[in-house]
Parts: sequence; C-alpha cells; structure tokens
Amino acid sequence: MKTKDIRVQYADSSHVVHAERICQLIFESAQQRGTGIAKRRPEYIADKMENGKAVIALDGDKCVGFSYIECWSHGDYVATSGLIVDPEYRRLGLATKIKEKTFQLARERFPYAKLFSITTSLAVMKLNTRLGYQPVTLSELTHDQEFWQGCEGCVNYDVLKRNNHRICLCYWMIYDPRVQNKPRAHWYTPYWMAMRNFTKKIFRLCTKRKEWSWPSVEVSTRRTP
Ligand SMILES: CC(C)(COP(=O)(O)OP(=O)(O)OC[C@H]1O[C@@H](n2cnc3c(N)ncnc32)[C@H](O)[C@@H]1OP(=O)(O)O)[C@@H](O)C(=O)NCCC(=O)NCCS
Repeated sequence: MKTKDIRVQYADSSHVVHAERICQLIFESAQQRGTGIAKRRPEYIADKMENGKAVIALDGDKCVGFSYIECWSHGDYVATSGLIVDPEYRRLGLATKIKEKTFQLARERFPYAKLFSITTSLAVMKLNTRLGYQPVTLSELTHDQEFWQGCEGCVNYDVLKRNNHRICLCYWMIYDPRVQNKPRAHWYTPYWMAMRNFTKKIFRLCTKRKEWSWPSVEVSTRRTP
C-alpha cells in the first residue's frame, strides 16, 4: 500500500457522503477494543465537515481516516476528538498525519484556546506528547455541562458519575498555548547571564571604590635611633 497516495486534508461539505462510514468505523473499533467511546451520529459528523472543523484522510474515493474538533466554554477550550484510522491502514503513520493536521486546524481557528484530548489509547498519548500536550487532572478542564453530556454514551460513564466528575478511566491531556509560546532560552543564555553578572560585579566594585578612600596614615620622618 502506498501511503503517499493518501491525502490528509480539511474536510468540507463534499465529504459528507463519508459520514456514515466514519460512524461505522468508530463504532466497530470501540466494540473491538471493549473500551469506552462516545457514540457519534452521522449528522453530527456531517455538521463538523460542513463547518470546517474536521480532517479526513482519503485513499482515492475511500475514506480511511478522520478526526474533528469541538469547542467548549465559548471557545476557551477546544477538544480534538474522534480520531479513527481504517484497520487496513494502521501502523503506516496515518494517525500521526491526521493528528498533526487536526492540531493545525485547531490552532488556526482558535489560536488562544487550550486544546485538550481525552484518550485511553497509547498511540494517541504518544502523538499528543509529541505535539506538546501535558497530562492533567479533570479539574483543569472545561466545566461546560454540555461537554460532560458527550460522555454519557461511554461504557465507563458510571465511573465518572460515581466519582463526581473528578475521575474516569481516560487520560486527559492539554495543550496550553500560553505555556507553549513562552520564548525558549538559547544555548548561550547561561554564558550571557554569567557575563552580565560579572560585568555588574565589576561595575559595582568600581563605583564603591570611588566612595572609598585610603585611611590617612601618618608617616613619621623621624629616624629611629
Ligand atoms: C489509534 C490509531 C488512531 C492509531 O493509528 P495509526 O495510523 O496506526 O497510528 P500511527 O501509524 O500514526 O502511529 C503513531 C504511533 O503510535 C504507535 N501505535 C500505533 N498503534 C498502536 C497501538 N495499537 N499500540 C501502541 N502503539 C501504537 C505507533 O507505533 C507510532 O509510534 P512511533 O511513531 O513511536 O512508532 C488507530 O489504531 C485507531 O484508529 N484505533 C481505533 C480508534 C482509537 O483508538 N482512536 C483513539 C481514540 S482517542
């Protein structure tokens, strides 16, 4: 299989025909893994495509991968969700490409939002970490009630409910642009700081010296016998 023939692109209304298949892929993979997954309806997926909030991978006319973004708390938080790759196309680096494109989409559309990802998948944790996501507890995430409604379709929802929305079986990871965009130190920063401190020290010594004068010493001209 040639991966270079697979196109990973932003989805639009022309891709709505693939919504049914995407839901089927998500459902089948959740059943196979026996893990929790929030169910998606084809209309929901189609809506994401029409609103430019999804990424699709196509091999010719066949949809082989998908992911989308969701906004919460009036755009303060954006979740990258629903990542799926057709079982026949796995382990080819396709999820990496889809995840990167979805990340790019979220950053372009919501540059100031905190991005988060909820997952039980090791592969997704790896990809998130590479993009700069950090693991967090649930308290760090959106408190939007609508968001939690999305978890109601998950088989582990009772765990979340029992723990008062503080603990569940998923891993929570967040990308905070305010933390990530902080300027990084250059390699020469420690040398530069050492030199600056040394210069300051010298300057302080010189100014102190001006204020300081030698104590007057009486010099006796008398010769000792
Ligand atoms: C998880 C999934 C999206 C990965 O897709 P993929 O195209 O095979 O992933 P990639 O080939 O881009 O691999 C990305 C990394 O994850 C690793 N990886 C992939 N599948 C893995 C697995 N099942 N277990 C552990 N690591 C895995 C790869 O080795 C790679 O790591 P590397 O770069 O260090 O070698 C795909 O298996 C899938 O659709 N699973 C079902 C749905 C799902 O779990 N979605 C996530 C919901 S949050």
